[in-house]
Amino acid sequence: MRFLVTGGAGYIGSHACLRLLDDGHVVTVVDNLVRGHRGAVDALRAAGGARLAFLEADLADTATLERALRDDRIDTVLHFAGLTNVGESMEQPLEYHRTNCAGGISLLQAMKTTGVRRIIFSSTAATYGEPPQSAMPLTESTPQCPINPYGRSKLQFEEVLRGECAALKESSPLAAIALRYFNVAGADAKERVGEDHRPETHLIPICLQVALGARPHLTIYGNDYETPDGTCVRDYVHVEDLVDAHLAALTALTPAQFRCWNVGIGRGYSVRAVLESCRRVTGHAIPAIDGPRRAGDPAALYADPTAIMRDMHWRAQWTDLDRIVSSAWKWMRAHPRGYA
Ligand SMILES: NC(=O)c1ccc[n+]([C@@H]2O[C@H](COP(=O)([O-])OP(=O)(O)OC[C@H]3O[C@@H](n4cnc5c(N)ncnc54)[C@H](O)[C@@H]3O)[C@@H](O)[C@H]2O)c1
Repeated sequence: MRFLVTGGAGYIGSHACLRLLDDGHVVTVVDNLVRGHRGAVDALRAAGGARLAFLEADLADTATLERALRDDRIDTVLHFAGLTNVGESMEQPLEYHRTNCAGGISLLQAMKTTGVRRIIFSSTAATYGEPPQSAMPLTESTPQCPINPYGRSKLQFEEVLRGECAALKESSPLAAIALRYFNVAGADAKERVGEDHRPETHLIPICLQVALGARPHLTIYGNDYETPDGTCVRDYVHVEDLVDAHLAALTALTPAQFRCWNVGIGRGYSVRAVLESCRRVTGHAIPAIDGPRRAGDPAALYADPTAIMRDMHWRAQWTDLDRIVSSAWKWMRAHPRGYA
């Protein structure tokens, strides 16, 4: 098949591209490199050779997207590109709506013009906001009440997709799926690509950066939550399992239907549990200090993956925290400065 992958120079998108290239598909990456890495594109080129095309372009550039969709005879779009930092979204809400919602609309417009009608969109558990703890684990029908511009911009684009799939009198209707990811972690088993967010806000790489000596300590935001050890609990899904979910979703794309699934392992690990795991895996003491709670951090957030297991026969293979952390650590140790 022939894929257009937006955000393919970023963390999750580069893993998806590698998998598609390893499986013999043809991939065009569109990324403006605002957060992605040329080093990731180089790794993709090494894996895919002539089956990989890279376009340094912004989602807002509808004409370039149209050209790529038409000239590269694309069947399906995997839409990973976006801004992803919750804190930053509170400071720059307009930028988040412009990229995550208006950027998606530009992409959809290009798809409409060129007759490409299949899209899988990276959505997020942040669209659920701060659900009551009685709502755990989260199903797809948990009310979506995002509490920050990041979550709102993602939910808005879900709504755009839903509306476009339901468009009346459409001779070639859109098929769209939103996968709502929980916390993604780990790296390619062959260490070709990995996680390098700048700034890094994710717990596992931050702990590992302390182990590498790149940070002095981990700050634990809140130790008095109503969880077994007082720290926040999150669902960590391995990036390879997440990519598998996308491949499974390809077979579930249905014209004129917008469908969504949560992607998580279905259990949560606390901040302290992650820290202990990182200490075990790295053999480093990883100093940690207690800090205040952060606004908008729910005590626990984890998925109910029943629907994706039932509908797509997807099942997380990586459920052991130490294995997930080891995978991230292997890449980090091999690339202590990331793609720099
Ligand atoms: N990492 C997670 O734990 C997580 C959790 C839930 C959802 N998600 C979603 O998954 C997707 C990928 O996340 P990631 O962690 O790989 O992020 P990332 O920042 O590593 O990758 C995003 C990519 O999009 C590109 N990009 C941003 N704005 C663009 C624009 N206007 N035009 C073209 N390219 C642009 C960036 O350069 C980057 O390469 C995002 O949409 C994110 O919201 C991620």
